[in-house]
Amino acid sequence: MNKTYKVNSVSIPKFSKPVDIMEGKRLYQSRGCGDCHDANASGKTFIENPAIGTLSGSNLTTGKGGILSDRTDEELAIAIRHGVGKNGKALIFMPSTDFQGMTNEDVGKLIAFLRSLPGLDKAQGEVSPGPLGRFLFLIGEIPVLVSAEIINHEATHLANITPSVSLEYGKYVASTCTGCHGFNLKGGPIQGAPPEWPPAQDISKKGLTNYTESNFIQTIRTGKRPDGSEMKFPMPWKSLSQLTDTELKALWLFLQSIE
Ligand code: HEC
Ligand code: HEC
Repeated sequence: MNKTYKVNSVSIPKFSKPVDIMEGKRLYQSRGCGDCHDANASGKTFIENPAIGTLSGSNLTTGKGGILSDRTDEELAIAIRHGVGKNGKALIFMPSTDFQGMTNEDVGKLIAFLRSLPGLDKAQGEVSPGPLGRFLFLIGEIPVLVSAEIINHEATHLANITPSVSLEYGKYVASTCTGCHGFNLKGGPIQGAPPEWPPAQDISKKGLTNYTESNFIQTIRTGKRPDGSEMKFPMPWKSLSQLTDTELKALWLFLQSIE
């Protein structure tokens, strides 16, 4: 965890129009940033477990205890896509594996949204992996604990991607699901999760046999499966309900293509 990573800085486009800031807000909500950094971006503790550890998302505003005034857009982009902090060290439990493929434009809109928020004073919460957390990481069970270690820092990023109901776009959106449903989306126990969290389910073609495109979309929007049962925490359906129809249709197309 003390290793330093060298990541080349990429220039990030600047946005200031209300429509782009709104899109940044939608990305912030639909990609689950608020689940760990809170809806107002002031940060919060999202895991507090004696064995796994105490983990808190940072205060991403300009208030006291916040990091925003002290970061360039390029540094923020490196934090988001590479999981590497300003000091070159890995961010702990920041799931950048989910965001590593984000386009320059989407990252720019996310940052424009963060910069539009009021500064909130809130001290940085604790980030200290417990003994079991460290042990599981060492044996390879929680790669996301230090996502910088598994991200390819040489990969180049797309400038932008056109939203459409296509496999390519579906794959782009599905990266938001991999942190919990696994890189192959076939589910299983969530890496690094406290024992009371249910396993994530198989959402490949085989796992979603009870679903059609329309009730898949309905499930994500309402949190209720076609059989009426509710999806339990931590399935972040409230965040994901902010996905657009195009994103959800593309997602469905892509998930159905995984044999
Ligand atoms: C599973 C929880 C989780 C999610 C989801 C998450 N983060 Fe984080 N993030 C963290 C944690 C924990 C840290 C602090 C890590 C540390 O200090 O070592 C962090 C750190 C950061 C930092 C670096 C702060 C600094 O010190 O420079 C930025 C920027 C950031 N997150 C942005 C985002 C954005 C934008 C999203 C959504 C696209 C997001 N995060 C989603 C947990 C999360
Ligand atoms: C923070 C972890 C997390 C993330 C991120 C996440 N899920 Fe889930 N998901 C879960 C868990 C846990 C369950 C099982 C909930 C239960 O047992 O009720 C689940 C269940 C589901 C189900 C129900 C499957 C079934 O068999 O009925 C669907 C559909 C689903 N997720 C889709 C997605 C999609 C699509 C994404 C990405 C856009 C996503 N999830 C992202 C944790 C997550």
